[in-house]
Amino acid sequence: MDIETLIIGAGAAGLFCAGRSGPGTLLLDHAKAPGEKIRISGGGRCNFTNLRTGPEHFISGNRHFAKSALARFSPHDFVGLVDAAGIDWHEKALGQLFCDGSAKQIVAMLLAAVEANGAQVWLGTSVEEVAHKDGKYRVWIKRQGVRQEIIARNLVIATGGKSIPKMGATGFGYQIAEQFGHKIVQTRPGLVPLTFGQDKFTELAGVSLPVRATAGGKSFDEALLFTHRGLSGPAILQISNFWQEGAEITLDLLPGQRGADLLRAAAGAKTLGGALSGPLPSRLASYMAKLAGYEGKLGQLNAAKFDALGDGLNAFTLLPTGSEGYRTAEVTLGGIDTNGLSSKTMQSKSQPGLYFIGECLDVTGWLGGYNFQWAWASAVAAAQNLRDGP
Ligand code: FDA
Repeated sequence: MDIETLIIGAGAAGLFCAGRSGPGTLLLDHAKAPGEKIRISGGGRCNFTNLRTGPEHFISGNRHFAKSALARFSPHDFVGLVDAAGIDWHEKALGQLFCDGSAKQIVAMLLAAVEANGAQVWLGTSVEEVAHKDGKYRVWIKRQGVRQEIIARNLVIATGGKSIPKMGATGFGYQIAEQFGHKIVQTRPGLVPLTFGQDKFTELAGVSLPVRATAGGKSFDEALLFTHRGLSGPAILQISNFWQEGAEITLDLLPGQRGADLLRAAAGAKTLGGALSGPLPSRLASYMAKLAGYEGKLGQLNAAKFDALGDGLNAFTLLPTGSEGYRTAEVTLGGIDTNGLSSKTMQSKSQPGLYFIGECLDVTGWLGGYNFQWAWASAVAAAQNLRDGP
């Protein structure tokens, strides 16, 4: 089969690209259903963009790379499509937009555009071999047990990162990139819960509270959740992108409030656990009191001890043993080195007609709809600049 454009990966970026890539497009995926990560995203409601999106919300070896694509396809452009599709949405904190109903509505909207564009979608199709000959891509695939060759002028790789292998994630994009001489920036799980050794927080599992979490010099004011395995919640997912193996993280359990002042104000006849119960969830208050090892009345403390206990609440320092890894990570940090690609078109600088879009690139957003906005924007950049002609 001889076509114009072959897109591999029917996730967020591949679907969006196939809805705009012109005639003669084939979109294929080894999964049985398209857009599976969209379907489960945002707790089933898909945080499909963030109105505040800017290049500062992305981590990349080249912090300028994402600028051009993000500027040319904005969150408002995507909201326009969502509105036109009649999908109701709401804004949560920090410009995050979610469907009122179901994330499946976004998948349906993307598929409708693919169909309107006349692109074919082949699911359950694996790619066995990719070569480049006489200016065209020759891709051997297997569909319904039959091997066949697809010849395409353009090859768009939209196979995402390594996170959640159970949902079909593979390192395929990196493998193709390397095959054509591209470099890979070391990958690691991002937006991922952190672990702390066996049973560290078992007694606190389920406790949640607003904190300021800090790692790698970056702080986020968001919710923290204690789990049986360690720490999770938006605050932890955010700092996991900046945390390096072996480094400590710091939690301010009383953001915007000096711990020592709070303890002094509560002093009287109260114990530390009693004073903290209220400002902190009661299970955490008891835990912190036990950890401080002081069970007497606060009124008996001297100034230095007040400060030490208070500072411990504003800077609760912990050493994670690791993260939950790709099994639960929402994204993959690192990826295809952007230095080898055009930031305007996502096309390889060295291999004409080869494009990489979405999460497989070394561009990773913070939590909050930024990763989908990158998938949409990079897909548009490629779709508008595919090679045509004889
Ligand atoms: P994506 O992973 O979407 O798609 C890649 C596709 O390629 C998949 O369909 C896969 O089957 C296919 N594929 C892989 N290897 C292949 C191969 N060898 N052959 C054929 N096909 C292959 N982001 C956000 O902005 N807001 C949110 O609310 C969330 N929520 C969220 C929740 C959870 C649980 C996860 C895991 C992730 C999120 N994200 C998110 C992140 C977001 O889902 C992610 O960044 C985008 O889906 C990336 O889009 P891509 O199209 O690049 O990859």
